[in-house]
Amino acid sequence: MVQKQKTLDLTIIGAGMIVTDVLLPSALQLQRTGVVGEITVCDLRESALRALRENRELREAFPGQSFTTCPETGSGDSDDPELYKKVLARKYPYHLAIVALPDHLHYPVLKGVLPFNQHILCVKPLVLKYAQALEIEKEARERGVFIGVEYHKRFDRRALLARKHYRNGDLGDFALGEAKLIEPYFYRHSNFQNWFTCPNTDPFVYVGCHYVDLVCFITGLKPVEVSVTGRQGRFPNGKEGYLWSNGRVVFENGGILSVNNGLGYPDDSAGGNDQGLIMYFDGDDCGGLLAHDDHNRGVEYGFARNVAKRFQYLNPDFFRTVPWEGPGLKPVGYGFDSVAATLLNASAIEAQADEYPGRALEIRRAAIAAADARGLIATPANSAYNELVQEAARLSILNGGDLAVIDYRGAVPAVKLKK
Ligand SMILES: NC(=O)c1ccc[n+]([C@@H]2O[C@H](COP(=O)([O-])OP(=O)(O)OC[C@H]3O[C@@H](n4cnc5c(N)ncnc54)[C@H](O)[C@@H]3O)[C@@H](O)[C@H]2O)c1
Repeated sequence: MVQKQKTLDLTIIGAGMIVTDVLLPSALQLQRTGVVGEITVCDLRESALRALRENRELREAFPGQSFTTCPETGSGDSDDPELYKKVLARKYPYHLAIVALPDHLHYPVLKGVLPFNQHILCVKPLVLKYAQALEIEKEARERGVFIGVEYHKRFDRRALLARKHYRNGDLGDFALGEAKLIEPYFYRHSNFQNWFTCPNTDPFVYVGCHYVDLVCFITGLKPVEVSVTGRQGRFPNGKEGYLWSNGRVVFENGGILSVNNGLGYPDDSAGGNDQGLIMYFDGDDCGGLLAHDDHNRGVEYGFARNVAKRFQYLNPDFFRTVPWEGPGLKPVGYGFDSVAATLLNASAIEAQADEYPGRALEIRRAAIAAADARGLIATPANSAYNELVQEAARLSILNGGDLAVIDYRGAVPAVKLKK
């Protein structure tokens, strides 16, 4: 059956790094294919919007395409944290919004966006507390608003293959794992220094969550215990943050995952960051193994001109813009696939809702339930274990690495420190 699509306008809230590198280019590609209509980007910092507008790579990849900004460039910064509401007030319901703000703002802004009935793509982590995830999930379901959470590693072919084999029993029972994601040192000089502070977040919550989600995505196992120890340090502006973290997640089958994270991969090193996952399994009187080197994916360049960092591992799998049959360049990779999955899903929902307007709410809710059950796109319902892990991790790191447990026995799972 051919899936129909409806062109939906898109409001992007936030104009920081992830919007520049992944979200806006993905949206501009989807504009070419008729999934996305007009794009508006809203940020409090005019400098961020101006940088986006003047971004050379975006101009080269998407000649002739444009987006509007709020505030308009040239009109100065805004001090209204709810400025995005003014943008959404001008939009038709059941179009699209992307929330791409610092981790601790996701919850208040999602609550602010939901009354405008926009389908939402939210960068990970959705929110930092389980109760908030439940609240968002309930309100979205009632309104027929589809929410996708941008855990893009799920769309990496490696992860999809691993899920297939684990769920088929081919690998055995998950026993021990090691995940690592160390982001570059230069992140400390970015806007991160304004919000990546100890009370707000830490490297485990910021990037460790990708691999915790991935292990759950592959195995279907529930996390039951979390402990995270952080190493504090100062950003260039003097603010204090956890710059390194070591976490340990124990799963319901006793499987143990160690998770190392930080903002300190040397800027001169060959990779964009350092990352990977190793998992060991118990089989029938034998071991099982899965090893993903996500750091060097087998492509090494020694640039002769035009590039400051001469020797590099290029990751062709996450997000690159490459020549295609059309004008400019097109984004490829699982970063694009992940964004496209949520926006395409919303666009297909609305095409169907337009066909049967009397059943629109029913169609929207059925589509949400179908995505929850399929478990490929992360939704508030099928990935809420991440909020349990996040909540436990924050409790642990703020208590010097004490063990936090996730108790599933009550009507609602609860997180607490182990006595
Ligand atoms: N690999 C990934 O999945 C990935 C990578 C990077 C970031 N992220 C997530 O994306 C989010 C943003 O990260 P980033 O790297 O783009 O951060 P960033 O600091 O570069 O950008 C955040 C932007 O939000 C803007 N902002 C803050 N409050 C606002 C408000 N009320 N209204 C409008 N704009 C506001 C800031 O001015 C800033 O430009 C974080 O939650 C992060 O965890 C995910």
